[in-house]
Amino acid sequence: MDLKDQIHKDLLPKHVAIIMDGNGRWAKQKGLMRVIGHENGTKSVRETVEASAELGIKNLTLYAFSTENWRRPKLEVQTLMKLLVKSLKKEIKTLQDNNIRLLAIGALSDLPKKAYEELQYVIEKTKNNEHMTLTLALSYGSREEIVNVIKELSVKVKNNIISPENIDESIINKHLYTQNLPDVDLLIRTSGEQRISNFLLWQIAYAELYFTDIFWPDFKKHNLYEALIDYQNRERRFGKTSEQLT
Ligand code: IPE
Ligand code: IPE
Ligand code: MG
Repeated sequence: MDLKDQIHKDLLPKHVAIIMDGNGRWAKQKGLMRVIGHENGTKSVRETVEASAELGIKNLTLYAFSTENWRRPKLEVQTLMKLLVKSLKKEIKTLQDNNIRLLAIGALSDLPKKAYEELQYVIEKTKNNEHMTLTLALSYGSREEIVNVIKELSVKVKNNIISPENIDESIINKHLYTQNLPDVDLLIRTSGEQRISNFLLWQIAYAELYFTDIFWPDFKKHNLYEALIDYQNRERRFGKTSEQLT
């Protein structure tokens, strides 16, 4: 049976998040410049977005650039930002044709003006699409996100808009960048690294983690199918016993 046919449509994760890692090593292995790895990584983005939309996954979040990635060589950062603008211009049609809404999370005002404006343009153009929500994490850091929530809530407490006793998980959710997204069900990381790298720390509290050695530019539709099949074979107990679930 085809891999795709082994996926149960009624047991799909509501939210898949991916740490797209390994572009640099993919290129190095081939004796190419890191930048070529990033360029080829954009093809995997397209494959993954298409495959997710075809299957009916409602939310896909991709870690494209972290707050820590600003520490990379200036030329690499510039190239990544140029690639972002290029991809947005190229893919807006795919998003529209497939009824996909684009969102972005992170310290977006830190992006170069051109990237910021192109991003806002595509977000605005696709805002009424409802088949799938694609969220790009750009200049994203989870700790920074949480610090911002605490600052905002402190101001609200100070101004008597909310009282400390009323702070609960749902209020925190509403102040995160991901305020309108469900919790992550499945987190995938490529390239063999088994770490979270400051990604969605709050939102992955009960996510299933899936690590693959494949470098991101080699990640194709069947790799996503494999991850989903693995996910669907796990028992998510959320603290309960196995017996309670049946
Ligand atoms: C992921 O690939 C892309 C970004 C972090 C922007 P890397 O560039 O981290 O590739 P490796 O980890 O060096 O192989
Ligand atoms: C995490 O990858 C960030 C993105 C995929 C955008 P990195 O390659 O930057 O992570 P570390 O620094 O190796 O943990
Ligand atoms: Mg990396």
